[in-house]
Amino acid sequence: MLFLGIDVGTGGTRTVLVNAAGRVVASQAIEHAPFRSAFPGWAEQDPEDWWRAAQSSIRDVLATAACTPKDIAAIGLTGQMHGAVLLDAQGNVLRPSLIWCDTRSAPQCDWLHATLGRERVIELTCNPALPNFTLTKILWVREHEPEVFARIAHILCPKDYVRFRLSGVYAMDVQEASGTLLLDVTYRRWSHEMAEASGIPMEWLPQLFESTEICARLSEQAAAATDLSVGTPIVAGAGDQGAGAVGMGILKPGSVSATIGTSGVVFAATGQPVRDPLGRLHTFCHAVAGRWHVMGVTQAAGLSLRWLRDVLNTTVNASVSYEELVAHASRAPAGSDGVFWAPYLFGERTPYLDPDIRAAFVGLSAAHGQAHLVRAVLEGVAYSLRDTFTLFAELGIPVRGVRLGGGGARSPLWRQIQADIYGRAVEILTAEEGAAYGAALLAGVGVGAWPNVDTACESSIQVAEQIEPDPAARVIYEQGYQIYRKLYPMLASLRSQS
Ligand code: XUL
Repeated sequence: MLFLGIDVGTGGTRTVLVNAAGRVVASQAIEHAPFRSAFPGWAEQDPEDWWRAAQSSIRDVLATAACTPKDIAAIGLTGQMHGAVLLDAQGNVLRPSLIWCDTRSAPQCDWLHATLGRERVIELTCNPALPNFTLTKILWVREHEPEVFARIAHILCPKDYVRFRLSGVYAMDVQEASGTLLLDVTYRRWSHEMAEASGIPMEWLPQLFESTEICARLSEQAAAATDLSVGTPIVAGAGDQGAGAVGMGILKPGSVSATIGTSGVVFAATGQPVRDPLGRLHTFCHAVAGRWHVMGVTQAAGLSLRWLRDVLNTTVNASVSYEELVAHASRAPAGSDGVFWAPYLFGERTPYLDPDIRAAFVGLSAAHGQAHLVRAVLEGVAYSLRDTFTLFAELGIPVRGVRLGGGGARSPLWRQIQADIYGRAVEILTAEEGAAYGAALLAGVGVGAWPNVDTACESSIQVAEQIEPDPAARVIYEQGYQIYRKLYPMLASLRSQS
């Protein structure tokens, strides 16, 4: 019995095959074309490209594992959240998807808040309107491309589009739907009031499911395209943050993860929909029925490092890898000799909710070199994630253990920087396989391989190592964090003068 987890990420699609003991038996990642950013703050991808990458990663995984299609008991989907996939009545894609980090819809957020009242939006959906959320992207299309808007018949998020191509079914799980701004997060159902107030017909919205529910089956056409069996069950799955949390065992109040992928997320499981009255944290349904989560998001986490790598490579016409970059960083001391990175390449979500703020290196002198720049980026991203821990403390959200995920967990230097900057011990898992792994566990629960998500995680996930903060580095970073906190208001004041 094997379970397939498919993660339709930003950089690429990753597919993993997991057995009934919770071990990964094969995995394959296929890159996407980089997202297009025609103007600052814009980010678009083609849904067809996700489908291309999904098909080839599935075929590659099946070939590597040398298993037969009948061995695949179920499929779980996950992916980058919030992207607006707009389809016509025949299921054709109407325009490229505005993805999660596209922040052009700030005026539409203002419109929603002016129309309904910011507090009412938070009451209805547990969250304020942010340009990252799907609804605001659709409202941008209504205003700027009315001819496209007029043809919309279905709205999906990225992984749900891949599900549609696998099965012909329009479906979404409640964790993903929480990030559309159209869900009544408390009652786990579409918000009629939100849809009506914003002019979105309810018929456009897909049917909702809990993450482990079987909501579709593989179609004949998709079976031919992927080498899977017709009728293979597909569970609803969850957005990458929900499935990633399952893959790391972040299920109960007190468990927290800090994951650095393209974005950076500090995620805490909660037993109730806990709201930040100021809306600085997202309050979403968890991928476990009857549970919720809060999370703070740094827009450009891994993206900061990728940006720096690409800039350096272009400038010197070289091809420096992430490993080489991070090896450079270890030559600079904790605190980067006074260089700071404010990681606002795509504006910032937590805690500022400011799509227009821009990034900066601060504190440079002629004595600084590449090592300082890279280390400052690693530190700046961790300072930004610490802002979410600060909010958790302010709101009384318990933090009993912190597990690291994503690229930030794979680099020994970045792990230590995180422990030092968060000022807490952090745990590394034996096999941190990301959101695709969580999606495969959800699929396993969906077909009864485990009785529930808690049991699936308890029997599959192990802690490999605990990393303690270094006392001397902690002192440097405590002071550093106080300076980092001053960067945002300074950068914001520059903008308002320009
Ligand atoms: C979460 C978010 C990102 C995307 C891309 O709110 O926007 O983490 O899911 O990974």
